[in-house]
Order: sequence, then structure tokens, then C-alpha cells
Amino acid sequence: MSTNTINYNGATVSPQQVELVQESFIKVVPIASTAAEIFYNKLFEIDPELRALFTGDMRSQGRKLMSMIGAAVNGLNNIGTLLPIVQDLGRRHVEYGVKDEQYNTVATALLFTLETGLGADWNAELKDAWTAVYVLLSSVMIDAAHGLEN
Ligand code: HEM
Repeated sequence: MSTNTINYNGATVSPQQVELVQESFIKVVPIASTAAEIFYNKLFEIDPELRALFTGDMRSQGRKLMSMIGAAVNGLNNIGTLLPIVQDLGRRHVEYGVKDEQYNTVATALLFTLETGLGADWNAELKDAWTAVYVLLSSVMIDAAHGLEN
């Protein structure tokens, strides 16, 4: 259980939002491979140039993405442990050739995936909660990419 609001450089996630995100992600786990497929289809539809950044097998990439999102979502209860993991992830993304502005594209594709995957369970409150979590994670990744660790 997380009891405090998470604050990182202006990005805030309330305990209720942590709970909403964790509960909804449980419903995504059984459809993770479909979700990953929806995600990459949407991502490459929005920006076809991103395809060139991915050199490996997309099924295994999809599994890594979903398991990292799962680890991050569960790690929100223990932000001190999560932070260095997400910072390392951000630094690796520099090597993958990822640019700051591409985090917005990923946000759009991720929200679309959750909306599609969760169907009738999706609502405005969940959208706000997932947006808050994504802003937090991407801020940590982008800061670490620039050598700024808070
Ligand atoms: C919260 C945001 C993100 C998460 C959780 C995430 C997660 C991951 C994970 C787990 C990997 C596997 C390799 C590793 O662990 O280093 C990976 C690789 C990768 N990600 Fe991300 N990522 C995020 C944002 C982005 C963004 C914004 C882009 C931009 C397009 C991106 C593009 C890539 C690429 C190109 C690779 C390497 C693929 C390859 O090796 O062929 N990611 N990501």
C-alpha cells in the first residue's frame, strides 16, 4: 500500500491514482501480448519513422515493455527502489536513439492501448491516473537521459 503522494519535479501521483493504475494493470496482464501488439501498431501508425529504432524481435520487445510497465506500476509503492531502475532505463534509451519528444508519442500509443484493452472499464479518472504515472516515469527517464538525477 502506498500512503503518500509521489512528487517528482512537479509530477505528482496520488495514492488513489497508484491504486487505480495497479488495479487496472492487473486486467491488462492476461492480454499483455495483444496489448503490446496494439501498442506498437498504434505507435508506428502515429510515427512510422520510429520503426527504424527497433532492431529486435517485436514479440520479445513487447514482452519486455509489458513486464517493465508491470514492474514500474508495482514499484510505485516503493519509489526509492524504483527510481534508479527507471533512471537506468532512461539512460539506455539514449543509446537506442530515443529523443525527448518521442515520449509524447509513446504516451498517446499507451493511453490508446489501455483504452482499447480495458474497454468498458476505461474512464476519465483512469486516464488521468495513467497519465500522471506516465508523466512521472517519463520525466525520470528523460532527466536521467540528460544526466539530471533527482
Ligand atoms: C515509460 C516509458 C518506456 C518504458 C517503460 C520502456 C520500456 C522499454 C524496455 C523494457 C525496453 C527493453 C530494453 C531495456 O530494458 O533497456 C525498451 C527498449 C526500447 N525502447 Fe522503450 N520504454 C519507454 C519509452 C520509450 C520511448 C518514448 C521510445 C521511443 C520511441 C522507446 C523506444 C525503445 C527502443 C527503440 C528500444 C530498443 C529496441 C531494440 O533494442 O531494438 N521507448 N523500452
